[in-house]
Amino acid sequence: MIQEGSGIGERVWGSDPILQGLDLVRAFGDGGSLSRAVDEVSLEVHRGQFVLMMGPSGSGKSTLLAMLSGLLRPDEGRVICMGEDIWSLNDKEREQFRLDHCGFVFQGYNLFPSLTAREQIELVARWGQGATASEARDMTDVLLERLNLIDRAHLRPAQLSGGEKQRVAIGRALIKAPDILFADEPTSALDWAHGEEVVKMLRQLSKDNGTTVVCVTHDHRLVPFADRLVDLEDGRLKRQSYGFHGVTGPSGHPTHEPGEINPAIPAKPTLRYRATP
Ligand SMILES: Nc1ncnc2c1ncn2[C@@H]1O[C@H](COP(=O)(O)OP(=O)(O)OP(=O)(O)O)[C@@H](O)[C@H]1O
Ligand SMILES: [Mg+2]
Repeated sequence: MIQEGSGIGERVWGSDPILQGLDLVRAFGDGGSLSRAVDEVSLEVHRGQFVLMMGPSGSGKSTLLAMLSGLLRPDEGRVICMGEDIWSLNDKEREQFRLDHCGFVFQGYNLFPSLTAREQIELVARWGQGATASEARDMTDVLLERLNLIDRAHLRPAQLSGGEKQRVAIGRALIKAPDILFADEPTSALDWAHGEEVVKMLRQLSKDNGTTVVCVTHDHRLVPFADRLVDLEDGRLKRQSYGFHGVTGPSGHPTHEPGEINPAIPAKPTLRYRATP
């Protein structure tokens, strides 16, 4: 959506945030040793953005990501995701919301050792998305192509490189065409060649599909690929930087150049499959 900006003839690239964290607090420990892992953090993420969350070890990145993604209940504050106040939902509703809208990629891949690359992804299509065997095969083929894994599809995790395994894990997250992909250190177990492969893939996704990517990392080499950088220190937001890939906009506005991100991105990406009840 292109909105009229404040200046005459000026246009601002804008849209409502897809994800908002509002005054988030999460503490661990008890009594005197209670310490705030995340301390009053607020942030907004817009559709199609590729956001990196960085900061030293222990600064609260994983805790913040877990609260934003519906995995860890905040002590204080709210998370509004696609208009839904996710921590006001009950557990079952929130689980459904996560299944419908969110994908997750973690450092350890979490692949099944006995399944081939193709089977890891097909399994989610069949049993998670309710696709028939042939639908699942077709959907998986499309993804394997995109992930440059088609010629590795018959291999099991032990036969795949770290980068290939992480791409399978990304494929498994993407088969449901999530609106938001949350990733915690997706490249930290990889050498740079494979890490770069993975981050380029994530970047491409946010660009092509309008998938919003929120990615925690230690690795500064990922920075040039991101639209925004959210820097944490001691559980607090230290700074946010914008505009690695486009205009430097005011806080709250996506920073892609018009044309770089398709404003007509469908609310539900095209890969989404929904079994009709
Ligand atoms: N389940 C838990 N129980 C107790 N303390 C915790 C728990 N999870 C996190 N913490 C503490 O909260 C703080 C922030 O942890 P968090 O895992 O969010 O940091 P991080 O920035 O992701 O670090 P890293 O880069 O090492 O993964 C740390 O001091 C950590 O010890
Ligand atoms: Mg962490």
